[in-house]
Amino acid sequence: MASLKNEEAVETSNHMEKCSLNGEVTNNVTHNGPASERNKLEAVPEFGNEIRKEFMLRPNSVFLNHGSYGSMPRCVHERQVRYLVEMESHPDTWFRYNMYGYMKATIGRVAEFMGIRMEDTFMLQNVTKAANTVLKTFPFHSGDAVLVNSLTYGAVNVAARATTAASLNGAQTLSLDINFPINSEDEVVQKYEDFLKQHPEVKLVIVDHITSPTAVVMPVKRIVHVCHAHGAVVFVDAAHVPGQLRPNIQDIDADFYAGNLHKWVFCPRSAAIIWRNPSRQHAWFRPLVTSAFEHRGLHEAFGYEGTKDDIPYICAANGIEYINRVGGLEKINEYNSTLLYKGVTYLEEKWGTKRLQVPDSMHSLYQCIVALPFIPGFSDFKETPAVTQVFMGKNLELQKLLLDKFDVQVAVVYVGQELMVRVSVSIYNTMDDIIRLADAVLALTKTEALFISDAGFIRVF
Ligand SMILES: Cc1ncc(COP(=O)(O)O)c(C=O)c1O
Repeated sequence: MASLKNEEAVETSNHMEKCSLNGEVTNNVTHNGPASERNKLEAVPEFGNEIRKEFMLRPNSVFLNHGSYGSMPRCVHERQVRYLVEMESHPDTWFRYNMYGYMKATIGRVAEFMGIRMEDTFMLQNVTKAANTVLKTFPFHSGDAVLVNSLTYGAVNVAARATTAASLNGAQTLSLDINFPINSEDEVVQKYEDFLKQHPEVKLVIVDHITSPTAVVMPVKRIVHVCHAHGAVVFVDAAHVPGQLRPNIQDIDADFYAGNLHKWVFCPRSAAIIWRNPSRQHAWFRPLVTSAFEHRGLHEAFGYEGTKDDIPYICAANGIEYINRVGGLEKINEYNSTLLYKGVTYLEEKWGTKRLQVPDSMHSLYQCIVALPFIPGFSDFKETPAVTQVFMGKNLELQKLLLDKFDVQVAVVYVGQELMVRVSVSIYNTMDDIIRLADAVLALTKTEALFISDAGFIRVF
């Protein structure tokens, strides 16, 4: 996979099979002519209930949590299965020969989709691994610090702390507090400026482009500029960006920029990219797993980490194809953001609560956080979950209750000590989903009490 070029990928991608909307797998070279012509002929289902039939989500369930793990359409899943069958039909042919061509084509298509060069783009399973790759290869010196912030994704926060704690050179992880309401982007950028002035020991900054679970779009370009002015390397955690925002990644100018494809690019779990800024080369940047091709180029080293299933990476090309087939990112942006705005306004009215207060420019397009009304047995617990206890807390008990009792999946989160929901919308959601969420929560507000036992929930309705 040496010396990858975008043109080579386009050439190779002509031999990749694409999935059509009706779930059939077609090959645009041998059967159907150019994809653009075929697209014109295919009817695109209406977003909402019609397109939901393309997905494998449980019928009648309310799924307002695309943001956590994504969900892929059936046609991409079927393509994944066909690749699996191809792999199983002759493992040697797959691993020794064919898979590299597919991978190369996919990296080219993903790079083109993200507006970056494939030479600078590497695939790995997920953003947790991307963050660990930078953290674990970063050359810490005595007294160095990593800077995260109070909105940093839990697993990445834990990874930073574990890495610095294990560092023989006595590195440490510092955290910048970002509290709500956020009044302006300037306020956030100034916090970085002030902090870094006082902490010259910060050598690596990790900042989310879209925070999770709070769904705030951070002014990453300006933060990167401040960090560089203070001599720090920046890793942008853009787990939610591919398929949601269309940033100019080169212009943001971070040292590393990593995003998940299995969330908003409709491909199998798990697939992600890490982009290395060509104008900020760091020789220490290597894959986390050292394997046979360590001493060849970086693409070879990232491309082969021992025997594993790389089909989710390969199917990222099919996820992108699906996005194009249903009308493109602009159309998806428009549908999701319009539904989100309408839905959140409805929830605010029904619940008498407010969305998280941030400037308009810092709201994400597909996700929004809304405060819950008082729910007995939950809202009266005032918890501040520790970063090391990401998977525990009343929020997750309530999330499970909404699922078990009402078949409503939504992320319930703490912001400070307040229980809120993170509503994620995708092209298969409608206002009916939002209304069912609103009603389920209102039903819980009317319960007398909810007692929790060691054995699980004892519900009193
Ligand atoms: C901001 C952010 N970073 C990292 C991750 C981790 O993603 P993964 O579990 O796919 O590694 C997530 C997952 O939701 C996230 O929201």
